[in-house]
Amino acid sequence: MVKAVVLGASGGIGQPLSLLCKISTLIDDLALFDVVNTPGVAADLSHISSKAKIEGFVAAKGDMKGETEETESAKKNALTGADVVIIPAGVPRKPGMTRDDLFNINASIVKGLIEACAKYCPKAAILVISNPVNSTVPIAAEVLKKAGVFDPKKLFGVTTLDVVRAETFVQDISGERNTSKVDIPVIGGHSGATIVPLFSQAKPSVNIPSEKLDALVNRVQFGGDEVVKAKDGAGSATLSMAYAGFRFAESVIKAMKGEKGIVEPTFVYLPGVPGGEEIAKQTGVDYFSVPCELGPSGVEKANNPLGTANDYEKKLIDEAIKGLKTNIETGVSFAKK
Ligand code: APR
Repeated sequence: MVKAVVLGASGGIGQPLSLLCKISTLIDDLALFDVVNTPGVAADLSHISSKAKIEGFVAAKGDMKGETEETESAKKNALTGADVVIIPAGVPRKPGMTRDDLFNINASIVKGLIEACAKYCPKAAILVISNPVNSTVPIAAEVLKKAGVFDPKKLFGVTTLDVVRAETFVQDISGERNTSKVDIPVIGGHSGATIVPLFSQAKPSVNIPSEKLDALVNRVQFGGDEVVKAKDGAGSATLSMAYAGFRFAESVIKAMKGEKGIVEPTFVYLPGVPGGEEIAKQTGVDYFSVPCELGPSGVEKANNPLGTANDYEKKLIDEAIKGLKTNIETGVSFAKK
């Protein structure tokens, strides 16, 4: 029996993600939590006749920070017994809000939700979607460490949308969309220049004309901006993010159930996962997205893609590391405040 929980289930990402979880054949119990609207989302989805039994839990009315006793008990009921927790909770940037303001709000939301996970489902796999992932994952790790329940093999920053974009955009160039699955490792972080697609390691190999490579890499790194612009200020990627989050969650669950050979790039705490120590030494950072072999207890091995990267990609990796150092430090110092 697998219980999945979505925290932030009423949002732009949360709702389609909850829909996908509801129709998944791998999930038996699905709990939704949000500070608003979750009973409605759960009632709506409950009319779909599928395997997962769904329940919605909501914060006390008006408790937007999710801090009252009543809210605590809603979190407890949602999270107890969870095997997998997926977190797309957050706030979108509003006019007049700086990136720092947004960071502080989302960082506090993630901190509060991870504290609840530490209390009510300390053994669950935790999949963090809330941005900025490069900082929210270090925050989550610090909170779990403080609570004495940190299992680095089970804390994942979801970077699958970068992989999905790399797969899709490369097929835009070759004109072969959907004819075959192409596997492209995307490593580093989850924003802008910290994202490094390794097209040289695509399987099967892809032929990218050299004059198109810069633009392709840039499109993967800044693909989110295309969506923000097209939505004309009304939001960022939600549907493709929900798809990517779900795809990753299903991989984690399949591996939990014993399926072998599943490898997914994900942002992990390197010193805590087998094979990660060496990558941490080479990069000089403790958090990095690398292709990870998944198993019943989470990350079984972090694969090191650095040695096989070509010179062009090595430069991108160096750039990514610079940005990541600052992002990670921001997260760790927020959590320690
Ligand atoms: N606990 C639970 N849910 C919360 C909390 C909280 N403390 N605070 C906010 N939420 C909920 C909101 O009520 C909302 O339903 O999180 C949801 C966020 O949804 P949207 O505002 O629509 O944002 P969305 O586009 O889904 O993005 C969410 O994911 O990719 C990231 O950058 C994105 O950090 C952002 C997050």
